[in-house]
Amino acid sequence: MQIVITEDGSSSVYLPELNEHYHSTHGAIQESAHVFIENGLKKIIGDQIVILEIGFGTGLNALLSLQYAIKNNLRISYYSLEKFPVDQSIWRQLNFAELLNDHLAVQFEKLHTCNWETMVSIHPNFEIMKVKTDLVDFSAEPDFYDLIFFDAFGPDKQPEMWIESHLQMLFHSQKSQGVFTTYCAKGEVRRRLQRSGYVVSRLPGPPGKREMLNGVKP
Ligand SMILES: C[S@@+](CC[C@H](N)C(=O)[O-])C[C@H]1O[C@@H](n2cnc3c(N)ncnc32)[C@H](O)[C@@H]1O
Repeated sequence: MQIVITEDGSSSVYLPELNEHYHSTHGAIQESAHVFIENGLKKIIGDQIVILEIGFGTGLNALLSLQYAIKNNLRISYYSLEKFPVDQSIWRQLNFAELLNDHLAVQFEKLHTCNWETMVSIHPNFEIMKVKTDLVDFSAEPDFYDLIFFDAFGPDKQPEMWIESHLQMLFHSQKSQGVFTTYCAKGEVRRRLQRSGYVVSRLPGPPGKREMLNGVKP
C-alpha cells in the first residue's frame, strides 16, 4: 500500500497488487465530494439519515459526511463495511482533515480508531458502526438505509463486488426513495441496478470522468 497525492492535492492510497487507487487520481476529495455528497447526501430529504457504505477504506466518505452533517445540522447514522482495514501507518499520513480545514482532525482519528461492530458517537451529529466483513457475508436489514455509497474497487478489478445478487440485496435494504450512488458508469452495472429494481440515471462524473450512476428505489 502506498500513499499518493492526487491532482487536487488530497492524498489517496495505491494498491500495487490490484494496480488500483482508492480514489480518482484527478482528485480524491473532489471525486468523493461529487459522487457521495453532491449526488448522494444532498439528495436525501430529512434531518435523520441512515447511510450504508461499501468499502470504508481511508474514511474519506465518512469524514465528508460528518462535515456535511455538522454544517447542515443533520443526524447521520453511518454503517460502513470493510474487509481489509487500512493500517494506522497509512491513515495517519492522509491529509484530508488538514485540507478540509474544519478542525476535523480529532474526528478523523476517532473514525479510524473507534471499535468495530459497535455504534459509536463521533460527534453529536454523527455516529458510525464499522463492520469488518466481506460484502458476500453481509445481509442487510430490509427498508433500512436512506443512502448507499457503493465505493468498491472497479468491476474490472473486483467483479465479485458488483454481482447482481449483491445489488438486489442492497436494493431491498433501502427505504423507498432511497438513493444508491457510485462513481462507476459501466453499462453492465447500470443494467444490473435496473434489473434489481432501481430507477437509474447517468449523471456527469467528477473531473476526469465522463459519467457516474445514481439509482433511486421507487
Ligand atoms: C475504492 S476503495 C474504498 C474507498 C473508500 N470509501 C475511501 O474513501 O477510501 C474499496 C474498498 O473496499 C474494500 N473491500 C475490498 N473487498 C471487499 C469486500 N469483499 N468486502 C468489503 N470491503 C471490501 C477495500 O479494502 C477498500 O477499502
